[in-house]
Amino acid sequence: MPHRIAVIPGDGIGKEVMPEGLRVLDAAARRFSIDLAFEHFDFASCDYYAEHGQMLPEDWFETLKGFDAIFYGAVGWPEIVPDHISLWGSLLQFRRRFDQYVNLRPCRLLPGIKSPLANRGPGDIDFYVVRENTEGEYSSVGGKMFEGTDREVVIQETVMTRHGTDRVLKFAFDLAQSRPRRKLTSATKSNGIAITMPWWDERVAAMGARYPEVKVDQFHIDILTANFVLHPDWFDVVVASNLFGDILSDLGPACTGTIGVAPSANINPEGDFPSLFEPVHGSAPDIAGKGIANPIGQVWSGAMLLEHLGHKAAADAIVAAFEAVLAEGDSKVLTPDLGGQGTTEALGRAIAERI
Ligand code: NAD
Ligand code: IPM
Ligand code: MN
Repeated sequence: MPHRIAVIPGDGIGKEVMPEGLRVLDAAARRFSIDLAFEHFDFASCDYYAEHGQMLPEDWFETLKGFDAIFYGAVGWPEIVPDHISLWGSLLQFRRRFDQYVNLRPCRLLPGIKSPLANRGPGDIDFYVVRENTEGEYSSVGGKMFEGTDREVVIQETVMTRHGTDRVLKFAFDLAQSRPRRKLTSATKSNGIAITMPWWDERVAAMGARYPEVKVDQFHIDILTANFVLHPDWFDVVVASNLFGDILSDLGPACTGTIGVAPSANINPEGDFPSLFEPVHGSAPDIAGKGIANPIGQVWSGAMLLEHLGHKAAADAIVAAFEAVLAEGDSKVLTPDLGGQGTTEALGRAIAERI
């Protein structure tokens, strides 16, 4: 039986990095005799919105729910559709309706890439951000009052549930437990956000009591961002609420040289629904259409997809392939964000050839 993969390129550079992600997945599937059946969809893009007046067809949930995984590019083209409409109408629906409550975002300084941080080399930055992905600050609870008057009020509530918080904490602790350093850092802000965040700290402590081997620390989000820059070697698994995790998962990869390499897995660990794999970056309108986007975030997301489907050796082969290409450092192959003059396609092909 083939693995059924839904392919959704989205907008901007999503459409440019996706073919390279697929090229590399194809190469790995051939080498490891994995049967992958791709089906392509044009929805969840702003072009689809321009034609249909909405981001998704009415039956999107039924259409996608039987797939084994979703391989996504990036969405957003603010010239056509305001970001909150395109994102709430697509990606954020997938995460919520498919209960992908873990957003797993590895952050690793790769061989051959120079960190913007002084005196940091491979091995100094190697951690995961585990981001709560279905609730928290990304809530639709709230509204506007007295609109258009000078008494205008806007409210958007943060919603944290015990069920929703404990399950992502459990995932993060399990991950920390499985890693050699067994260390977990919690992103908090319980000094200033005095209802939800002290409660978050309590839930972390309660879960931590079940993992005596995991060393736990916590930082308020403000100094935590500073410590990502000053002491990235302190971190192993960092667990965070939805918004804090979003911010940390751009900052972390920036410390590893470029957000163009950063992958993510939006996981429904129970397997009730498909999980979704996408780069951390967005549609990058500033470089879209030039063929110079770094495809490694998409390629690495493909490796995470294969690992999720049980093909760890194939996933490892993809990671080894892009590491080898990076270590080689051929400036004709590396994209401009990596200091080269290469194209998206040249880098994608070089990785696929290694496999
Ligand atoms: P962005 O990630 O698209 O771009 C930020 C910067 O990083 C830009 O300078 C861009 O050129 C660069 N960059 C991003 N990916 C790169 C790559 N692969 N190679 C080289 N350089 C790369 O973030 P933004 O500018 O804040 O957002 C642009 C659009 O994308 C918005 O509509 C936003 O809402 C959307 N967005 C979508 C996702 C997603 O689909 N998951 C994530 C973030 C932003
Ligand atoms: C991400 C993105 C999304 C998020 C946006 C585009 C809604 O920034 O996947 O990190 O905030 O989750
Ligand atoms: Mn983000």
